[in-house]
Amino acid sequence: MEFFEVVQKRYSHKVAFDSSHPVSDEHLVKIVETGMAAPSAANGQSAEFILINDKAIIEQIGRITNNVPLKTAPAMIAVVSDLGEGGPGVSYCLEDYAAATENMLLAATALGYSCGWVDWVFKDPAVRDPVSELLNVPDDRRLMVIMPVGLPGEPGPRRAKKPFERRASWNRYAVIR
Ligand SMILES: Cc1cc2nc3c(=O)[nH]c(=O)nc-3n(C[C@H](O)[C@H](O)[C@H](O)COP(=O)(O)O)c2cc1C
Repeated sequence: MEFFEVVQKRYSHKVAFDSSHPVSDEHLVKIVETGMAAPSAANGQSAEFILINDKAIIEQIGRITNNVPLKTAPAMIAVVSDLGEGGPGVSYCLEDYAAATENMLLAATALGYSCGWVDWVFKDPAVRDPVSELLNVPDDRRLMVIMPVGLPGEPGPRRAKKPFERRASWNRYAVIR
């Protein structure tokens, strides 16, 4: 798929996946390698990845999070951050994990999958802690996002983006608000 087509095709699949259709190990590795190719502050590469295709683990993640994509996806990738990366008082882990995650969303789309960015549920320690424990995430790492990947179990809506002039302008700020 051509790059700009991939960018336009990517969308967040927030409804059910087809859990009966697996994602190959080869594809999961390719997606994660694309995440690893993302830029990171001072090349710190603070984002780390857990490739998840074990049905029992997926079932538990789905139960703990009660999130439909995470309950139904045949595979998922957890992104874990090294909170200390970047030096004392400085952390670019948010930027690093976001760049890596976007790269992976595009890679999954290019391979013909739907995918999503499930993040908000992990802001709540009551959800993040048991999932982190299940995935063996060490204390000096933080679970940031889990990205479900697979074929859609039902069609997911595409979201409209604002027109160009409402988000961009030439030379000086003149965005139409
Ligand atoms: C930082 C960040 C956090 C997000 N967290 C969630 C989330 O927890 N659950 C979810 O369904 N989508 C999440 N999303 C996806 C957005 O809801 C989605 O990108 C937005 O609605 C635009 O839709 P699109 O991705 O289909 O273009 C997140 C996206 C970003 C960038």
